[in-house]
Amino acid sequence: MQNFEYCTPTKMIFGKGVVEKLPEVLAPIGTKILMTYGGGSIKKSGLYDTVKKLLADKFEVTELSGIEPNPKYSSVLEGIRLCRENNIEVILAVGGGSVLDCSKAIAGCTLSEGDPWDIITSKAPTTNALPIVDIITMAATGSEYDFGGVISRPETNDKVGYMNEHLFPKCSLIDPTYTFTVPRNQTVAGVADAMNHILETYFNSDPNFLMDGIMETAIKSLIKNVRIVLEEPENYDARAEIFLNCSLACNGIYGLGEAPSGWPMHGIEHALSAYYDITHGVGLAIITPRWLRHILNEKTVGRIAQYGRNVFGINEKSDTETAEKAISATYDLYESIGIPMHLRDVGIDEIRISEMAHHIAINEGLNQPDVYAPLTEKDIEEIFTASL
Ligand code: NZQ
Ligand code: ZN
Repeated sequence: MQNFEYCTPTKMIFGKGVVEKLPEVLAPIGTKILMTYGGGSIKKSGLYDTVKKLLADKFEVTELSGIEPNPKYSSVLEGIRLCRENNIEVILAVGGGSVLDCSKAIAGCTLSEGDPWDIITSKAPTTNALPIVDIITMAATGSEYDFGGVISRPETNDKVGYMNEHLFPKCSLIDPTYTFTVPRNQTVAGVADAMNHILETYFNSDPNFLMDGIMETAIKSLIKNVRIVLEEPENYDARAEIFLNCSLACNGIYGLGEAPSGWPMHGIEHALSAYYDITHGVGLAIITPRWLRHILNEKTVGRIAQYGRNVFGINEKSDTETAEKAISATYDLYESIGIPMHLRDVGIDEIRISEMAHHIAINEGLNQPDVYAPLTEKDIEEIFTASL
């Protein structure tokens, strides 16, 4: 087992009605709030009114609305301006992972010196960040329990992961009932995202039995519960288990003591959503079985077979057959919950494949010797072609 350091300083408050605790959570942190949100789902659900009522007496609220999925750098710049002009003391993110990611970038760039894009791309240091509290309304990214945010800059086709220890939320209020309104396509995309976060960690070269078992069970829990919520969108326990699963999946805990994997599928997907603005979880679902098939070789076959045996109960005569079936089972699972499984289904053809593969090869470090299955530019191009 490898050495590690681990700390998650985020307080998680989870369950029905926890939003009522917002004033007592915020009060010791600050009273001048920047409330960030997306395109209107929180207004439809009534959460916007609830939050405004809770903050009416003791807090001064400035708003930043319209944060888009795959949050854009322009929203970050607008948020920095609002924070500086209004002497904001704390950012309250209300919405999905995109709203929270944008808020993290605003928080880090407002209190650090330097050009915001340099800070986001870690060319300039993040020396401090405004505190962040969130009410997260999508079970997907795990941004509520990690120190990362992903920001898109369409003008340059960049989608960049901004990670820094200052970016952990101070507190995440998670009420799974707010996910009852998440549409089917986003519900399944969120599950595919969490499942992929687990797989990105699972496929590493120094695994341990403890984390393997936890991760295999976590994937089985996602599969079981996504089927339930597709039938019963308001099944609280299933929504809650999916949410907890998502919160844990991107936080690093499953990788304790293991080798880094390089997160190749995310490196590949981020180009797809940067170039074509597609939903992150959908891009991942399309890439996952193709990546598995591409890396299937003597070194990886045992591990892919273990995934097949312990997650899907596949037990063929050889590891190779079991691994092959595990890959097909992964594809079938996504297809069965209604995820479009070809790039063409989401409006992507072969025209920019080489350009994207080149961009990834330069920027994502997927060919480093220490990653689980190093990928060259040609490998990435082949994975894209197989995904068409
Ligand atoms: O904008 P609004 O109107 O709020 O609608 C959103 C959006 O259209 C809607 N939605 C959110 N909560 C809802 C709801 N609709 C109804 N009821 C609710 N309760 O869902 C749509 C998608 O929201 P978004 O925030 O974009 O989804 P998600 O949480 O999946 O976030 C995706 C972003 O996170 C990044 C992705 O790349 C993508 O940019 N990631 C962030 C990570 C992190 N911070 O650690 C890791 C991930 O791997 C990922 O890369
Ligand atoms: Zn992801």
